[in-house]
Amino acid sequence: MKHTFNKIKRVDGELFFKGDKSISHRVIFFSAMAEGISEIENISDCEDVKSTISAFEMLGAKFIKDKDKLIIQGIGRDNFKKPEREIFCGNSGTTARLLSGLLATQKFSSTITGDDSLSTRPMKRIIEPLELMGAKIEHKNFKLPITFYPTLNLHPIDYVLKIPSAQVKSAILIAGLFLSDKTKVKEKIFSRDHTERILNLNYEFLNTEKIIYSSSEFYPKNQNYFVPGDISSAAFFIVLTLLTENSELLIKNISLNPTRTGFLKILKQMNANITIEEIGVANGEPYGNILTKSSKLQNIEISPDLIPNIIDEIPILSLAGVFADNDFTIKNCKELRFKETDRISALCKNYEKIGLDVYEFYDGFSISGKIKNHYCNFETFDDHRIAMTFAILSMLLNDGGEIDNQQCIKISNPDFFNQLSLVTVAE
Ligand code: S3P
Repeated sequence: MKHTFNKIKRVDGELFFKGDKSISHRVIFFSAMAEGISEIENISDCEDVKSTISAFEMLGAKFIKDKDKLIIQGIGRDNFKKPEREIFCGNSGTTARLLSGLLATQKFSSTITGDDSLSTRPMKRIIEPLELMGAKIEHKNFKLPITFYPTLNLHPIDYVLKIPSAQVKSAILIAGLFLSDKTKVKEKIFSRDHTERILNLNYEFLNTEKIIYSSSEFYPKNQNYFVPGDISSAAFFIVLTLLTENSELLIKNISLNPTRTGFLKILKQMNANITIEEIGVANGEPYGNILTKSSKLQNIEISPDLIPNIIDEIPILSLAGVFADNDFTIKNCKELRFKETDRISALCKNYEKIGLDVYEFYDGFSISGKIKNHYCNFETFDDHRIAMTFAILSMLLNDGGEIDNQQCIKISNPDFFNQLSLVTVAE
């Protein structure tokens, strides 16, 4: 279903966000894997996280929603149940990839599937290391559906990540939790570190590499969790505030994990008026408040080392770049082509629609010129982050604009429209 947006006058107010999606997936994994009861406060209610919950229900965990808390009766290390049918992971790459690490170690066979988008996404990145660990996996062309078979040959590996990916890293580390000897994962460019933090895994830095260790010693125990707000969902509101005159927005209890806040660093280098205050740490994850005020931005060069840190924010960061002085260019981000849609192509197609000059590279894009067309029908390609980026752009155009699918926004933020109505002031 399409949705039309009018230009807004300003942003004003305070917002809380439901739990960070990446952290929510992981605390559900670790609560469901543990034996006994765990309670989670501020879990995300997005579609992707629902996919993880229903996967673990099929494996034997029980979930009860009690007001703001999710209560989980965990399964325990040796009690996973053979699922009665294929496990459908919906649109969620994190569910499919992290779950692969767990299913590869089980005494029963199981199959995971996904929606049309997830079924086109690359799975070689997890199949290869899991096979090196001795897993028996069946697949066609390294895509979903994937079937896992029981094997007696599982063993730890010492693996250097070929691409900086937290999903790949986490799949291997989760498989390693079922083995008594140490599995080692090495990364040269650092990806988000929620798995290490929440499981309290040991790690060290050797030269420029980070080495993370996993073994049954770190198998999760039942505990209570608080999930800080989703910084990637907040990013859309931060950029809307920066780009609207006379605006001010306070976001409270938001995740400030340093492997996720690269876009704030970049925006600040672009001259954004953003104040960050850390107020606490929950389950190894720092959180706090972010105050954003309208700003006049200037484009800067984006360092390649920061790309994994900002990978989910590149769409909305590029929009900040469209309104900033000088041209916006980003490179070294070919991973964007393997997200829910090819995000490089999706962004370029939509920016062309408003008359901007776009140049697409295999691993990035650049945008220059002035916005010529006011009112546009933007294509979401059924991708939540593309949908939110062009929803925000529509609210900045003189005549507004529309997106062709508002439903997909629920993949990461079902509160998006309600939050907009709370903090935007109409023209
Ligand atoms: C995620 C890791 C990132 C990110 C995705 C969530 C995670 O993907 O883009 O939205 O929760 O581990 P990659 O691991 O493919 O970089």
